[in-house]
Amino acid sequence: MNKKGCRTHDSPSFVYPRQENMQQPNTMNYNVDKNGYYGRFGGAYIPEILHANVENLKREYLRIIDDPAFQKEFRDLLADYVGRPSPLTFAPRMSKRYGTKIYLKREDLNHTGAHKINNTIGQILLARRMGKTRIIAETGAGQHGVATATVCALTGMRCIVYMGATDVERQHLNVQKMQMLGAEVRPVRSGNMTLKDATNEAIRDWCCHPADTHYIIGSTVGPHPYPDMVARFQSVISEEIKKQLQAKEGRDWPDYLIACVGGGSNAAGTFYHYLNDTRVKLIAAEAAGLGIDTGHSAATIHLGREGIIHGARTLVMQTPDGQITEPYSISAGLDYPGIGPVHANLAETRRAEIRAVTDDEALKAAFELTALEGIIPALESAHALAVFGQKKFKPEDVVVLTVSGRGDKDMETYVKHFNRADHE
Ligand SMILES: Cc1ncc(COP(=O)(O)O)c(C=O)c1O
Repeated sequence: MNKKGCRTHDSPSFVYPRQENMQQPNTMNYNVDKNGYYGRFGGAYIPEILHANVENLKREYLRIIDDPAFQKEFRDLLADYVGRPSPLTFAPRMSKRYGTKIYLKREDLNHTGAHKINNTIGQILLARRMGKTRIIAETGAGQHGVATATVCALTGMRCIVYMGATDVERQHLNVQKMQMLGAEVRPVRSGNMTLKDATNEAIRDWCCHPADTHYIIGSTVGPHPYPDMVARFQSVISEEIKKQLQAKEGRDWPDYLIACVGGGSNAAGTFYHYLNDTRVKLIAAEAAGLGIDTGHSAATIHLGREGIIHGARTLVMQTPDGQITEPYSISAGLDYPGIGPVHANLAETRRAEIRAVTDDEALKAAFELTALEGIIPALESAHALAVFGQKKFKPEDVVVLTVSGRGDKDMETYVKHFNRADHE
């Protein structure tokens, strides 16, 4: 147990940090309500200057999302450009090692190498319909930046990507890709120069250019309608899992779903069609960095308290007087001090089990998947894979884990640790 009563990753079942005056959560509702809340998390806490933009976005998104012409364009691009459906791959050697039946949902095989493209395709079509001509985005690992630069090239839109200077350095292959795709990458030097700081700058930019600019947020964070909109665009993941499991297992639901959470978009997409199906147990893996009690961690759900970050009420890593704590993870896509409100609610209602995974556990899991199945995962996805080292599953369980991205962007980190492991 740590000081706050949270269990550490050595005894990892999630205990939500209890707060005084906490309202009783609505345990029956895991979907967003009409005001953009998941239980008591979510909403839209925005500067006055963005009010019209956010209201317009909400109106247009809700009008378009069920429009058959929009859906056709979105679905056609997912099929012919992204390469969907992504396979659901049975992992025989991992299954043998962990004594359970493991399937991998292969978002790593998408065009641009991760799940992020599902959302950027949806949002660029929306931006075009709203008459926007300038696109901004924030990025951590660079995957969302590459996915945004890609859809901007596809549609001929101007693209500016904010990226923390630390991330520019550790993910420089993705920076080069964004530049080749025609995007302007603006390094951000405030804070610890990672995802939170990039998001701050993107919001500042949006405040200065509200008329012509659409901000493509890359995760289930930000003011309503972003968390719901991003989850809807990513929900193609669970829609496909249902069909693929039906074909492979004769039933359309697994016993467990596992995904990593940074802001929460691949997990939200993986869980979406199963949120209210309690036969399916949900597991989210967040980044514990060097360990959740070390002061070098990004385990927001374990360590966070209720607060407001980037326009949403959610769990936030913060000091007792409300200053945001700088997060740390080896993985550039997971070191965010907030969490999507959908996941804050899933954790609080105990609908999802939240596991904190350290850098070392993630690295070990990445090397293991590579050796056993010939798949090099992104460091973010490796956090989800490490759950197999923490938790025992039954032989008859069907476990689906989303491999959110491929490991190309992380090769330098892998090589560094692989060589070190070799010489120890
Ligand atoms: C491959 C990959 N997986 C996961 C994430 C975490 O984001 P999210 O929690 O929104 O899925 C990222 C973020 O950059 C990523 O690149």
